[in-house]
Amino acid sequence: MTDNASSAAPEPGADAVNGGGPAPRERVGVIGAGYVGLVTGVCLASMGYEVTLRDIDANKVAALNDGQVPIYEPGLVEMMSEHRDRLTYTLSLERMLERSEVVFIAVDTPPTYSGDADLSRVMSVVEELEKVGADARHVLVMKSTVPVGTGERVRAELDARGLEQVGYCSNPEFLKEGAAIADFLRPDRVVIGSFDDAQGDRVAALYAPLGAPIIRTSVPSAEMVKYASNAFLATKISFINEIANVCEEVGADVEVVAHGMGLDSRIGSSFLRAGIGFGGSCFPKDVSALKQLAGNSGYHFQLLTSVIEVNELQKRRVIGKLKKHLGTLEGKRVALLGLAFKPETDDMREASSLVLAARLLAEGAEVVAYDPVVEVYDRLHGVSMTATAEEAMAGADAAVLVTEWAAIVGLDWAAAQGTMRSAIVIDGRNALDPREMTRLGYAFEGIGRIPAHVGAPL
Ligand code: UDX
Repeated sequence: MTDNASSAAPEPGADAVNGGGPAPRERVGVIGAGYVGLVTGVCLASMGYEVTLRDIDANKVAALNDGQVPIYEPGLVEMMSEHRDRLTYTLSLERMLERSEVVFIAVDTPPTYSGDADLSRVMSVVEELEKVGADARHVLVMKSTVPVGTGERVRAELDARGLEQVGYCSNPEFLKEGAAIADFLRPDRVVIGSFDDAQGDRVAALYAPLGAPIIRTSVPSAEMVKYASNAFLATKISFINEIANVCEEVGADVEVVAHGMGLDSRIGSSFLRAGIGFGGSCFPKDVSALKQLAGNSGYHFQLLTSVIEVNELQKRRVIGKLKKHLGTLEGKRVALLGLAFKPETDDMREASSLVLAARLLAEGAEVVAYDPVVEVYDRLHGVSMTATAEEAMAGADAAVLVTEWAAIVGLDWAAAQGTMRSAIVIDGRNALDPREMTRLGYAFEGIGRIPAHVGAPL
């Protein structure tokens, strides 16, 4: 099948365009009301579709039925309440199948010890579908990130269980946490891999109202687009982080360098922000999974090995910077400003703060932390949380800006300066102005930035 792009854009809620004639109005099911499933379901409801979300967690389903959103994503709670008439939450797969034709699968695929993705939840869905009796009306649409080849495995499993009539497509998600609703409703592209054109058409018709380019391809290619995209973005980040580290050696400023690089349209300016490394639920997991996938086929993906290693080292470089100013960290009080892996989310998966906090504690430092959303996190043993950033900084020997929350970047740094035991700030996200921070009396360091006292133009 060849790739093609379609950009038909009827009004949201109008009959989907499919081969020129009006298509039957599909109802949508979503299996797994986690981050991806909820955003997908709520956004499709906002487009006018009837959506039934099914989860196996009774507490979660009860909370959703009460109008509570179990995750933090800007705008989601409002959209859920605005479109509640088109949203049904249930524990019953049978009920969901009765109420839907296109069924998204959005279950967890966490990494196993070997680095492979754990597909047990996906496979138990297939098992359940056999028991409940999915049929020719249903097209399964894989949203979960799954290794290349999973679609073919699932297809074979469906066939072996007598579910040959049930359709299967791959439709990877490209949702950034904190901007997931915009990413869903205004995507750069929608990728649909199918074994059967007519099944792919049904999924494409669902998305047609968005007017985005739709890439139609095979299932393995669709699965690969997701891994390759995330691995490339992660590579860009590790690349600029290494450039930042070299900038520190040679007296250049990475912010200027990244700006100068990014204006080249072949390079592009996004994902060139140097810092203390990438985290989150996707990049670390997907980069490792792609490396593992290649390795399983006998190919050593050397570049990705370095991307991962650079990212790990980047988180630890802050320790060196702190030691440069403080000498030993034993008994020193260090404030971590921000904990989430990035702003506008409460997600702590693979957050740089976890490694940083653990390293600081291992060095004998006292660690205090503030995050506007993350209040407690079970993996932060030994870290005391404060109610405000100011409280974390008061009496601290040094502060590290870990997550560039607006509330942290915009705090009254002049006032906070006087409350610290020693006014040292390491800006792990290059979110602050080195000159201004120096003017305020801080000993200040970013990542790959020229110290302001050198006086060179930034
Ligand atoms: C990512 C992808 O962007 C999305 O398409 C995919 O489907 C899921 O994974 P997400 O993990 O939500 O989304 O966050 P993203 O905004 O991409 O940032 C990932 C990490 O990289 C964060 O820790 C962020 O701080 C870091 N980052 C990002 C940088 O260090 N520098 C950058 O220039 C960009």
